[in-house]
Amino acid sequence: MKIGVLTSGGDAPGMNAAIRAVVRTAISYGMEAYGVFDGYKGLVENKIRKLERNDVGQIINRGGTILGSSRLKDFVKTEVMQVGIDNLRNLGIDALVTIGGDGTYRGAMDLTRLGMPCIALPGTIDNDIASTEYTIGFFTALDTAIDAIDKLRDTSFSHQRCTVVEVMGRNCGDLAIYSGIACGAEIVITKDTGYDRETVLKQVQQARKVGKRHLVIVVAENITDVTLLAKDIQENSEYEARASVLGYIQRGGTPSAFDRILASKMGSYAVELIRKGIGGQAVYAKSMDVGYIDIFSALGVDSKPSDLYNYLPRLN
Ligand code: F6P
Repeated sequence: MKIGVLTSGGDAPGMNAAIRAVVRTAISYGMEAYGVFDGYKGLVENKIRKLERNDVGQIINRGGTILGSSRLKDFVKTEVMQVGIDNLRNLGIDALVTIGGDGTYRGAMDLTRLGMPCIALPGTIDNDIASTEYTIGFFTALDTAIDAIDKLRDTSFSHQRCTVVEVMGRNCGDLAIYSGIACGAEIVITKDTGYDRETVLKQVQQARKVGKRHLVIVVAENITDVTLLAKDIQENSEYEARASVLGYIQRGGTPSAFDRILASKMGSYAVELIRKGIGGQAVYAKSMDVGYIDIFSALGVDSKPSDLYNYLPRLN
């Protein structure tokens, strides 16, 4: 069997770990692995090359994607997608693993419909794929955002300011709400909370009344202009206010432990599915729910051996 792998859309830390797992798992089963470079654009332009074990060495810890990525608007036209499929077929490739966000998923659905079975892995810092609780890259981006907000908090405290921080997420508020909780932000504004200028100003004024020396407001992107919001707060409250847009820094950097492990499991799992002849699927991860158990039974629960042992490297 021959398997292709590509990354598409906004890059995310951990994509390399997923590529590595796909390639190495495929090779360990005697399959051939092919890298498609620069996402769906590269697929159409036939930028496809066979990958060996060593091609994916030294990348589990690297951010970005060694395969490159792109966004190709035309990858909704059947004739364009057909060129991509023909390129895969000419090399005898039977199935494709696509790693990316919602645009990548749409492409994978269409390719599957046109006869090229795809397995989609969620790779995006936005955490906006409905079928999975966590996407590859989300927690690393979250750590980056938290680190930045902690630093902003230091100077915000020193100067008794209101700091307004914009985080990424496209239309999803997860980076904002998770970083807001982790950093103890006073106000978080996302699509889900809604944005009402009057309410925010009231909350800011209230913060001063209860004696808050400074405050942090985390805003998801595409909600409102944070520079204008900071100006508004400065003009209508007792706080000086400053805005910071974290931007693309959230997409880069060394993947966290969680993202490396999630990506390794998902990449390997994708190959297992293809090996069983299963295509047209999206791999998901669940769950980090919190529950409770009678304390007198808590230590007596049978624990299963970790399934992580299945993901140790095979050298064949
Ligand atoms: O999907 C990841 C993401 O970084 C979003 O958070 C952001 O809205 C978008 O990509 C930016 O896209 P581009 O790289 O095309 O500017």
